[in-house]
Amino acid sequence: MLLMSTSASNISASNRVQALSFNAIFSKMNALAKVHQAVNLGHGFPDYPAPDFVKAAARQAIADDRNQYTAAQGELPLRTAIAARMQRRYQVDYNPETEVIVTQGATEAIFATLMGFVNPGDEVILFEPCYSTYKPAIQMVGGIPKFYSFLPPEWELDSERLEALFSEKTKVILVNTPHNPTGKVLSETDLALIARLCQKYNVVAISDEVYDELVYDDAVHRPLCTYPGMYERTITVSTFGKTFSVTGWKVGWAIAPAALANPILRMRLYTSGSGTTPVQVAAAEALSAPPQFYQELRTEYTALRDTCYQMLKETGFKPFLPAGTFFLMADFSGFLAAQNLSMNDIDFCQYLTQTVGVTAIPASTLYHDYLPPDYPMVRFAFCKHRATLLAAQQRLRQALEPLTSG
Ligand SMILES: Cc1ncc(COP(=O)(O)O)c(C=O)c1O
Repeated sequence: MLLMSTSASNISASNRVQALSFNAIFSKMNALAKVHQAVNLGHGFPDYPAPDFVKAAARQAIADDRNQYTAAQGELPLRTAIAARMQRRYQVDYNPETEVIVTQGATEAIFATLMGFVNPGDEVILFEPCYSTYKPAIQMVGGIPKFYSFLPPEWELDSERLEALFSEKTKVILVNTPHNPTGKVLSETDLALIARLCQKYNVVAISDEVYDELVYDDAVHRPLCTYPGMYERTITVSTFGKTFSVTGWKVGWAIAPAALANPILRMRLYTSGSGTTPVQVAAAEALSAPPQFYQELRTEYTALRDTCYQMLKETGFKPFLPAGTFFLMADFSGFLAAQNLSMNDIDFCQYLTQTVGVTAIPASTLYHDYLPPDYPMVRFAFCKHRATLLAAQQRLRQALEPLTSG
């Protein structure tokens, strides 16, 4: 009776959800790739197995019946391993008891941090193109996103353009380095500029550093929290998923001085409560991998990056060599022109999947508004088996064959 009298509007989604921008490009492209059996270089997850020692640690945790709830802030040995890594790698000290919070992936760490610091109407500065959850997360907490657009070929950070985004309403800046999707590793000058502006405008920084182990050639990643005056206002976010090729495990974390960590923990207590115990136990062990593991990882990824770059270059794309991450942006106009075709990036990704059999992500969907047509770009993920990249190469070459042979 009660149900029958409920009006239709009572069962509609909340205004908060209805107002959300929803970027469905990843599920769309994955579905299309499946239908056309395309080589999927769109979504950023590895298609090869996780390291044996990581899998063995998870099997052991389950065999040991580590099945019950863990602390809201995460397994203490994992928090200890995260703090120890931060000290070993970057010489920064955090107390694992009060300054490390384990979350369901970096995504939850970012959301819980925004919930913990942003009031409705506060402004949040972020950089685009960007990871697709940033904008909806800011919107969900009632924040107002203010975008700085990175543009090719240099993805330059211009001090005037950045400072113009700051105001007395700015509460948080959300930084990502190494940067998805451009592969840019923010330079010392870039980060010193961000640090200076954070202090000038009294702003909290969330620094998403999930790709910190994936830097190539002579690029160096230096965490934002190590810049003068930044330790006390920076929350560093990272994840276990990227470095250890287990994106589905969803073990991430936020690290910050206790006063900043506390609001995040309070949010987390009432969202998921706690994380997945056996994977946290395994992550604790894996994080203590010897330096050789990280060196080999970088060597392998450098080779995959170079294979992907060469494949695109030789088939008429103009790829931008990334200094970090496992993504690569490429201008596709040359590949299309060779076939006497012209289309925007969204249509191009559809064409590439359906006709050529290779999937990428249209760059304009990673910007908040749209990308001017003078930047015809797509994003490729090279966190794939070498054989996967070679299969893509073969298909791209085949697409050009009738033209080169005719
Ligand atoms: C920049 C960035 N941050 C965070 C994430 C998500 O990390 P997690 O899977 O641990 O939530 C991703 C995943 O693609 C990412 O690219």
